[in-house]
Amino acid sequence: MVPDHDMIKNPEQIAGIRESGRINTLVLDYVAEHIREGMTTAEIDRLVDTRTRELGGIPAPLGYEGFPKSVCTSVNSQVCHGIPDEGVVLKDGDIVNVDVSTIYNGYYGDSSRMFCIGNVKEENLRLVRVAKECMEMGIEQVKPWRFLGDMADAVNRHAKENGYSVVIDIGGHGVGLEFHEDPFVSYVAPAGTEMLMVPGMIFTIEPMINMGTADIYLDDKNGWTIYTEDGKPSAQWETMVLVTEDGCEILAH
Ligand code: MF3
Ligand code: CO
Repeated sequence: MVPDHDMIKNPEQIAGIRESGRINTLVLDYVAEHIREGMTTAEIDRLVDTRTRELGGIPAPLGYEGFPKSVCTSVNSQVCHGIPDEGVVLKDGDIVNVDVSTIYNGYYGDSSRMFCIGNVKEENLRLVRVAKECMEMGIEQVKPWRFLGDMADAVNRHAKENGYSVVIDIGGHGVGLEFHEDPFVSYVAPAGTEMLMVPGMIFTIEPMINMGTADIYLDDKNGWTIYTEDGKPSAQWETMVLVTEDGCEILAH
């Protein structure tokens, strides 16, 4: 598979998307400074919304296909798309993903990090650490004229070696001119498959790593939040990358 012409960004678009990614990273830095035990996920939403607007951006999740808040906050067995809530208090031992997405001058940025609240038990710390390593090992494989499956294979291999599983049904995506663009980015595809990586492509590396089964379900009460089927924890880190002539550039982390 080769990318369509519209998946290859021109220099002007890349400059705009780079700025949006920079704002996105600054918003996550602000979350990192302020997140603490006892805070509700609704407070994280307010931090993200306020900081994004201060920096001249718009939170992309708000109103996106009806999403009600400005950020996704996914705690413990929530895999992704957790909705910030006044009733969800971060407590000692929680692991939480904060997924920030920004629109800046019409361009999109997207990245997420895990935060460990208070004293997190060793097995959950290990999950968070290995999930980060999976993302980093994926990023190392982002080079022109290789395949997205080469990246996925590196992610999946490291997860499996550590006894974890990678979520199959939800993946990453192209990003920049829209929030979610083609291609769909799998983290379980075999090496040598999926789309060729070509300079100018921008997409996310955001594998969801589960401690137990890869199976997930959707909370049909809110229509958004994804949980692990077995109730075990899940961890995710997300970086937005640009394929360059000789490797890749990180646009948001
Ligand atoms: N930020 C998520 C991603 O990485 C997408 C969230 S869609 C939303 O793809 F509407 F829930 F924000
Ligand atoms: Co994303």
